[in-house]
Amino acid sequence: MYFEWKEEYEMGVEVVDRQHKKLLSIGRKLMTLIRTTDIIENFEEIKLIMNELRLYTIEHFSREEQFMKENGYPDLTSHAMEHEFLRKKLKQIYKLEQPDHETIIRLIAFVSDWISGHILITDMKIRNHLLQARKA
Ligand SMILES: [Fe+2]
Repeated sequence: MYFEWKEEYEMGVEVVDRQHKKLLSIGRKLMTLIRTTDIIENFEEIKLIMNELRLYTIEHFSREEQFMKENGYPDLTSHAMEHEFLRKKLKQIYKLEQPDHETIIRLIAFVSDWISGHILITDMKIRNHLLQARKA
């Protein structure tokens, strides 16, 4: 299932975990709507939720970047570049005019896979950094 929360996403940082859960729940809401309604007829509603996802992503990434700064995380620049990639991608998707059903599902599925991979690989590096710092 797309945008599904998995235990392995847990970073142990309350604010980040809570935001990841919310991000995924907006994604699930969007995916359900795209799958169960007529995309042409309900395009305005789909656009609203796409915008909600886009705006929440911006808020979350900025909070996560602030958290990395506060904790002296050494790979902030490359991590923030990944964030920038998704921010741009969501803007492109949001700006699409009348995309067909297949295209929109493929793009939103791509976003789901991207978020999942980003949490598991890139965000988990923050977790490892925090664990190392605690040990030192
Ligand atoms: Fe991140």
